Amino acid sequence: MPQTCPPPRRRLEYLLEKVGLGPDDYQTIAPHKELFASRAEEFGRYFLEFFLAIDATSLVLRRQSDPQRLAAVLGHWFGALFRQAMSPSFLVEMWQSGVRHVELNLDQRYVNLGYSVARQFCQRIAAEGLPPGARAGVLAVIDKLLDACVLVATDSFITCTSRCDNQVIAGIAHQVRNPVTIIGGNISRLQRQAQRDSGAWRAFETVLAENRRLERMLGDIAAYSELYRAEPRPEACPLEPILRQAAGRLTEHDQSPRPEQWLAIELDPAHAVAFADRAEMTLMFFHLLENAAQASDPAEPIVRVVSGPGPRPDFLRVSIQNSGKSPDPAQIDTLFQPFTSSRPMGTGFGLPIAALAARRNLGGLSLQPAPQGGALCLVDLPTPEDRAMAQ
Ligand code: HEM
Repeated sequence: MPQTCPPPRRRLEYLLEKVGLGPDDYQTIAPHKELFASRAEEFGRYFLEFFLAIDATSLVLRRQSDPQRLAAVLGHWFGALFRQAMSPSFLVEMWQSGVRHVELNLDQRYVNLGYSVARQFCQRIAAEGLPPGARAGVLAVIDKLLDACVLVATDSFITCTSRCDNQVIAGIAHQVRNPVTIIGGNISRLQRQAQRDSGAWRAFETVLAENRRLERMLGDIAAYSELYRAEPRPEACPLEPILRQAAGRLTEHDQSPRPEQWLAIELDPAHAVAFADRAEMTLMFFHLLENAAQASDPAEPIVRVVSGPGPRPDFLRVSIQNSGKSPDPAQIDTLFQPFTSSRPMGTGFGLPIAALAARRNLGGLSLQPAPQGGALCLVDLPTPEDRAMAQ
């Protein structure tokens, strides 16, 4: 539940860095911060009145034991915005506000409106109390402070809501797994009692194939929701061992032919190390290789993996090409949606899991028909030189 969302400190620091708040900004605002902070109580009252006048937020407030408390909470926040200058404890407070708003089921759009109210309140104070020559500089810093708050609160909101959704998904996958296993076991037992190749035997065979597909789907759903459980931990990842490990897992998974029979890995040594989460890369390449192998020409299965420069100097590109039929360009987008598969027994989760893993690691993934036939999957990943951005 939301209370279990810890603030992702590194990501918050990264967001603050991107807003561009620096020592010069704090110096600009230092002589004037009491002018703003001394109006904290007034801000709290104004904020409460503003949101009591909106039906949707008034409803949220009236559900609270003491709606007036919001005036005190927001007054305290406004004072701290100027007196604490994005201290670690202020950042945690901002993060907690996002968690609290999720618990209250408060629409994030109203929270953003709250920041707009705060901005206008500050502009009024500046117009009334700041010398004209100082106004533009101080308001520019206040804009950055409020932008930083919006980013932290939005980050917290998104993290907590998607975590709730994923707990439900993981819970359902877990609850469905037991009955599916029991059904599979019982059908196998019944099938053993039936005459081989009789109508009943074939019917059991069909049920068992669907049951195995359900089991695989539950595994993939669990892997998909698992990806949201923790932040990626990027590190320098040599890709060749990861690709080989992923291909090895494929043979354990469904008795596919050994990778030596269909897989050629020819990485360019200058573009063979990504900066990404190792476990997520293994999962991503597992699904990409599985997809490529299963869709390749059964008469001549070939999957070729090469690497080269990426679309930007701090990225590399891994290309995975198979033999076989080219994907229909009109169908490609739907293949990235969960539960959509071009194979009758596919789970429809391979590409969504791979694309999610690439995105979480600041990379990208696309699929297209290969010029010589077959499918070409392009994976762009940050390189270790891009370390600051990926953390
Ligand atoms: C500028 C935008 C906003 C900021 C900075 C903000 C900040 C906060 C903070 C710091 C808390 C305390 C979190 C905690 O429990 O640790 C809080 C709680 C709360 N917020 Fe907001 N908030 C904003 C917008 C709103 C809006 C638009 C509403 C509209 C209903 C709202 C309703 C509440 C309520 C009801 C609580 C719980 C208060 C309590 O503990 O009784 N907030 N908010």
